Amino acid sequence: MAEPFLIGENMTGGYGKADILHDCTVAVEKGRIAVIVGPNGAGKSTAMKAVFGMLPLRAGTVRLNGEDITALSPQDRVARGMAFVPQNQNIFTSLTVEENLEMGAFLRRDDIRPTIEEVYNLFPILREKRRQPAGELSGGQRQQVAVGRALMTRPSLLMLDEPTAGVSPIVMDELFDRIIEVARSGISILMVEQNARQALEIADRGYVLVQGSNAYTDTGKALLADPEVRRTFLGG
Ligand SMILES: Nc1ncnc2c1ncn2[C@@H]1O[C@H](COP(=O)(O)OP(=O)(O)OP(=O)(O)O)[C@@H](O)[C@H]1O
Ligand SMILES: [Mg+2]
Repeated sequence: MAEPFLIGENMTGGYGKADILHDCTVAVEKGRIAVIVGPNGAGKSTAMKAVFGMLPLRAGTVRLNGEDITALSPQDRVARGMAFVPQNQNIFTSLTVEENLEMGAFLRRDDIRPTIEEVYNLFPILREKRRQPAGELSGGQRQQVAVGRALMTRPSLLMLDEPTAGVSPIVMDELFDRIIEVARSGISILMVEQNARQALEIADRGYVLVQGSNAYTDTGKALLADPEVRRTFLGG
């Protein structure tokens, strides 16, 4: 089988002495959507941090486009085309929407205007609110700012930790549609989701993590059809 575009393979590590991740593997193909689900405290965010270089690994490797990036800093990973929207504090609330987008492009030296336009075309409400402090926006709109800011580096891999946290079901569906649109443009998506059932519906690949280990890995469709996965993780 060909190497996936991004793979965090057999990752073991944690924050102090105790390991949180145990031989954990997550991967995503070019232009596809991979979703990580699992109970609270399972290590989903920790796995994302490990892939992004925010957690020292005791074992395992992270490879992007066939290249071993395990030793690279998060900044260097951004320069290689990775973007990460963390679970919390993912926008600058006192800055305007547009300033948030500009901050996202701080590494770029070329004209960022076309990318800002692309973000506004993807999320039209942000164009309307571009002069407002991001802190005044609704939860769903803030998440759009966070995703938009991440897109400002023109990444090839977009990592999202619970992009639909605290938003209504309608806004969640809308956000998922936009995420599908981003993937169709060729950007790989690796995301953690609390709304497991809905997220697995749009997932090319799904990972169920339990206590820092891979419990189930399959296509989103197959996981949704698996009686054991349904009973244990999807509420029947
Ligand atoms: N900065 C940290 N320092 C020490 N331990 C941490 C830290 N962050 C998380 N942990 C621990 O690591 C384990 C996994 O946490 P993590 O945040 O990765 O879980 P999660 O699956 O993302 O959970 P949730 O669904 O609540 O977001 C938990 O036991 C947590 O207490
Ligand atoms: Mg988390």
